[in-house]
Order: sequence, then C-alpha cells, then structure tokens
Amino acid sequence: MTDAITIRRPDDWHLHLRDGEMLAKVVRHSARQFARAIVMPNLAPPVTTSDAARAYRERIIAALPAASGFTPLMTAYLTDDSDAGDIVAGAEAGVFTAAKLYPAGATTNSAQGVTAIANIRGVLEAMEKVGLPLLVHGEVTDADIDIFDREAVFIDRVLAPLLRDMPGLRIVFEHVTTADAVAFVDSADADIAATITPHHLHINRNAMLVGGIRPHAYCLPVAKRETHRLALRKAATGGSPRFFLGTDSAPHERAAKESACGCAGIFNAPFAIESYAQVFDQEAALDRFEAFASLNGPAFYRLPVNEDRITLRRGETKVPDLIGDVVPFHAGDTLGWTLD
Ligand code: DOR
Ligand code: ZN
Repeated sequence: MTDAITIRRPDDWHLHLRDGEMLAKVVRHSARQFARAIVMPNLAPPVTTSDAARAYRERIIAALPAASGFTPLMTAYLTDDSDAGDIVAGAEAGVFTAAKLYPAGATTNSAQGVTAIANIRGVLEAMEKVGLPLLVHGEVTDADIDIFDREAVFIDRVLAPLLRDMPGLRIVFEHVTTADAVAFVDSADADIAATITPHHLHINRNAMLVGGIRPHAYCLPVAKRETHRLALRKAATGGSPRFFLGTDSAPHERAAKESACGCAGIFNAPFAIESYAQVFDQEAALDRFEAFASLNGPAFYRLPVNEDRITLRRGETKVPDLIGDVVPFHAGDTLGWTLD
C-alpha cells in the first residue's frame, strides 16, 4: 500500500475566486496547494475586457499571502458584444490565458453571457487563429430541456457543430458531469480536453436530494446519476491526457446557499487535492494522479510544468463544518490524505 505520494505541484484549471471580501478569504486555500489557477470571470459585473482582467489580476495578487508563488491565469467573459481585437491583444500581452463561454442564463452571473454561438463567430475565428483556448460551460438553457439533460443536449446542439465548423479551435469542456461528455471528449477528432471537479467524482444526485434537500451539494452542472459519476471516475483515473484537474470551487456564503432559491456552487478549494487523492486511491490509480493533477493541464495549455513538488500522506484531514461564512465540501467529514 502506498502511504505517501510526491508529485509536481498541481494547478487548478477552473476556479472561482470572487472579489472583495470573499476573495480575501478564499484565495489562500488555493495558494496552499496549487501553483496556478485559471480564474473564472463571472463576477458582477463580469470581466469582459483586458483592462478589467488586468485590474482583477492585481486585486488577486494583492489578496495573496506573502511569497505564495501563486499565479492567477485570467480569462475573458464572452458576451454577444465581445471585441475580438481586445481579446487577442489581451492574449498577446499575456493577460488572457483563455476565454470563457457561458450560455446566457446557464449559471451564476451568466446573464450577460452568449445568447447564440453565431454572435461570437468573429471572436472564435480570432481565437482559433492565435490558439487561444475556449473554455465552455456546456449546458443549454432552453426552458423545455430537463436540467439533467442539459449537458448532453449541449453536445449535440452546440459543441459537435462547433467542432465541425472550427476544427482548429482549442476547447476545454469544463466540469464535465456525464458519460456522454466523457465519450465525446474521448473520441473527438479535435484539440479538446475536459476538466473534472472533485465533487462530481465523489457525489451523485442522491447527495442533493435524499433524506432532505441539501443545498451544499447543489452546483451547476448539477450532479447526475451514479452511472455518470462512475464514468467520470474512469475518465479522471484512466490515464487519458485529455482530462485534468479543475475544481470549480465556487464559494457562496452559507445564507445564500441555505435559501428558498439557493446559489449553485460548491466550495471545495480548502481540501481539493486531498479530496482528489482519495478518489485516485480508491480507484487504485495513484500512479496516474500526477498526470491528472500536474501534467495534462500544462500540456493542453502549452505552459511549462511546475518544478516544485508536494507530498501527500495517508492520514486524517478533518474538514471543518464552516470556513468563514462558507460551508466547505466534505464539511464534517474526514479525508484519508494529508498535504505536508
Ligand atoms: O456551481 C457552479 N457555481 N457552477 C458554475 O458554473 C458557476 C459557479 C459559481 O460561480 O457560483
Ligand atoms: Zn465554474
């Protein structure tokens, strides 16, 4: 039995750091584990321009603990009115690492997202030309599509046609939650990858709905049935370079979650790497953990791997019931790995 594992320092390829007071409270949790993170731009107002991203990056850096070594990688929030020139200029200036497609209305602060792919055609062509990755929240928002089907329908209606039309576009299918998405990414003849969250590896929809409605297990895309969770575990631990770590840690204050209309999002940043390690251990795949956590992401993003290492040891990590005003993922549970 492996009792300790040392890997290159991982990165988080999908993170919500928020702004202001919340940013100040949460960023150190990511910096404790990760060297870099793709920072999502769904603030209010959203980060739509390179100037806004520069300013946000400064606020993140100012909120970091001293000498953390943590690097935020910024993303552009695409809207129907996105300016291709500014996004490419931002990419060339090293401000933007990627741009994020939120279908309008799909999730938190996505009201100003894209209402139809045709509206951002010019931006996508420019991104294809310079190789800037498109990060996709892959859910349709049509009222007549069941919330549990929205990812699978998105593949058929939006993603597959997009890959056909723009074969050179580099895409990350974010926080995949279905066997359909895993199969699509596995078999696509394109430069496509996917992130997988810790929560979608640990829970299925029962966690949200059995024995009472449990708002802290509610996120978007919503957790699906068990067959899908098992497909995600296989994808994450199976060794394909197309799958990598992205927590989608999305803190909301407890009162905003425990509400008649609770916010979507799971705050998993404090113990994300311990949580993932537990999954790889359970799947007898610790030998593939470094690729998922620390190698596949940089390879897709064409960035160097991190040179320093972290060590995880078998041992108890007790997750508190509350961190600040936020209930963390695994609240009150004990994880089987500790980070040195
Ligand atoms: O659960 C989620 N929370 N999913 C998202 O797509 C957004 C995120 C947030 O920002 O709260
Ligand atoms: Zn997200």
